[in-house]
Amino acid sequence: MTDKMSTHQAEDDARNEDILIYVDGRIVPKVQATVSVYDSGFMLGDGVWEGLRLYDGHWAFLDEHIDRLFEAAKAIDLDIGLDRQGVIDALRATQEANGMTTDAHARLMVTRGVKMRPFQHPSLSRSGPTMVIIMEHSRPKLPRPIRLATVPHLRGLPMTQDPKLNSHSKLNCILACIAAEKAGADEALMLDVNGFVNTTNACNFFIVRKGEVWTSTGDYCMNGITRQKVIDLCRADGIPVYERNYSLVDTYGADEAFLTGTFGAQTPVSELDGRVIGTGQMGPVTERIRNLYKALIQQEISK
Ligand SMILES: Cc1ncc(COP(=O)(O)O)c(C=O)c1O
Repeated sequence: MTDKMSTHQAEDDARNEDILIYVDGRIVPKVQATVSVYDSGFMLGDGVWEGLRLYDGHWAFLDEHIDRLFEAAKAIDLDIGLDRQGVIDALRATQEANGMTTDAHARLMVTRGVKMRPFQHPSLSRSGPTMVIIMEHSRPKLPRPIRLATVPHLRGLPMTQDPKLNSHSKLNCILACIAAEKAGADEALMLDVNGFVNTTNACNFFIVRKGEVWTSTGDYCMNGITRQKVIDLCRADGIPVYERNYSLVDTYGADEAFLTGTFGAQTPVSELDGRVIGTGQMGPVTERIRNLYKALIQQEISK
């Protein structure tokens, strides 16, 4: 298919071939930025990560990202080996080394580190965590709104790899995305264990019906920082917003749908399972929320 795309699509930027990457305290050229084949993250997906965005010298919602990183690390019993300030310093050092001032995206990853033997038991990871920060020049650019397909892969219960964890292992989401692509869509819409619409494989999901904004209850999906900002912005601006259960029937009949995530902010959805949503273009409520979000970022920058 010629028009394959994803929600994390950005303008081509040749500078990304020459970026410097943080690997365990060293900042090295991309070609030298490697981790061991014994690394817990490579071998088992045993780690947690955050995606952060730089706007005019300011890492948006940095405190929330650092909170979520440390909460996730605590949940998987992983000692990051740095305190909050240490992680922020590493992020800023990487930014500075790359001379980046705006329109950059960072993927900050921490794994349980190098294992003694190639087996699962976490006690085999004895040499401390591995931390990597990949920071790229990034200006999101989508040629058209996103097409989604519903897939059989569910957002599971919290006792089976809590779907709120930003874990390295994303196999459930990857399988969902593969199924969606095979169905001719860009990305997957995933249901919860009760069959209600929940989230996509990589972003949170919202619909607009008769001027109201609906998103899932928040169970079974990533506690997205952008998701929460959108809810807060709607409340502050008098847009009715509900975190509730809703079905595919409600979704097919929505006037608008959009995704949220740090990378793309709010991304319009044109189609779900071959049904056009609304006009198939970005709707007025999505546009209003995008403008409110842009203003919020500006407010953050000027703090
Ligand atoms: C599965 C999933 N949903 C949603 C999000 C969006 O979260 P945020 O708005 O904090 O970037 C992410 C990003 O990490 C994700 O992996």
